Amino acid sequence: MLTFDQVRFYYKKGQPVVENLDLTIEQGEFVAIVGANGCGKSTIAKLMDGLLLPKEGSVKYNGLHTSKQSDLNMIHQQIGIVFQNPEDQFITTTVMDEIIFGLENIRVPREDIHSRLDDALRAVQMEDYREMMPHQLSGGQKQRVAIAAILAMRPNVIIFDEATSMLDTQGRDQIMSIMHELHRQGMTVIVVTHHMEEVLYAERVLLIHQGRLEFDGEPSKLFLEIDIEKYQLELPFAVRVHNTFHLISPVRADWKEMIRLQWSIN
Ligand SMILES: Nc1ncnc2c1ncn2[C@@H]1O[C@H](COP(=O)(O)OP(=O)(O)OP(=O)(O)O)[C@@H](O)[C@H]1O
Ligand SMILES: [Mg+2]
Repeated sequence: MLTFDQVRFYYKKGQPVVENLDLTIEQGEFVAIVGANGCGKSTIAKLMDGLLLPKEGSVKYNGLHTSKQSDLNMIHQQIGIVFQNPEDQFITTTVMDEIIFGLENIRVPREDIHSRLDDALRAVQMEDYREMMPHQLSGGQKQRVAIAAILAMRPNVIIFDEATSMLDTQGRDQIMSIMHELHRQGMTVIVVTHHMEEVLYAERVLLIHQGRLEFDGEPSKLFLEIDIEKYQLELPFAVRVHNTFHLISPVRADWKEMIRLQWSIN
C-alpha cells in the first residue's frame, strides 16, 4: 500500500506545487493520473518513489518512509518509474548491459542475473535485441528496454510518466498491452498521461489541479460528471462517439464495451 499523508511540496519556497495531498493506492490497482500541464503530476510521481521528498507530511510504501535514508534503497527497488523521453534513459552501451547494470547495482547474486535478464526481456518482447546499442533502437523499443530494466528489479509498483507520449500509435499500443499484462499479474500500475484513451482502461483516475486532488474515482464517472475541458483535458474518442450516438439515436452504444472490443480486454 502506497500512502500520502498531508503531503506538501515546493521547489521554491512560497510557490507550492503539491498541497495537502492525502492518497492511498492499494497493491494491484491500475491508477491513471491526469491534469493540465504543470499541475504537479510528475512531481507526485517522483514523490511516490522518493526521488523527491515531501516538505511536510509523509509518503510511505508498506511501512517504509521515503524520508528515511535507510528505507530509500528498498523503495527504489519496489517502485520503478519509466519516464517520457526514451533517449534519456540509457546509461550503458547495450540492451543487455543496461539491465545487468541495474541488477549489479542492487547486488543481485551473479547466478540470478541471467534468469532475471531473460525474464525481463521476454516480458517486453525484446529477447532478440540484447546485443543492440541504443542508437540502433526505435523510441518504442528503447521504452521497452527501460521497462525491462525496471522489471528485472522485480518491483511491486511501476509508474509510467507520459511514457508513451513520444511514440506512434503502434509503439503506444505495445506499451499499453505491457501495462495491462503487468496489472494482470498483480503489479500496481500507475499511469501519468494526457491520452484520455489510456485513462479508460484504468480502474481509478486521479485528477490533479494546481497540486490538489480534484477528483478520485472511476474513469466513467470522471467523463460523465466532470467538465474535464476546464482542466485542459479532452474526452476520449469512444466517449465522444457515444455521446453523439446518444444525441442522434436511441441506440445505446456502450463505450466501455467498445473499448473492451478495441483492446480485447476481458
Ligand atoms: N526541477 C524543478 N524546479 C523548479 N520548478 C519545477 C521543477 N520541476 C517542476 N517544476 C514546477 O512545478 C510545477 C509542477 O511541475 P510538474 O512537472 O510536476 O507538472 P506536470 O503536471 O507533470 O506537467 P506536464 O503535464 O507538463 O508534465 C510546474 O509549475 C513546474 O514549473
Ligand atoms: Mg509531467
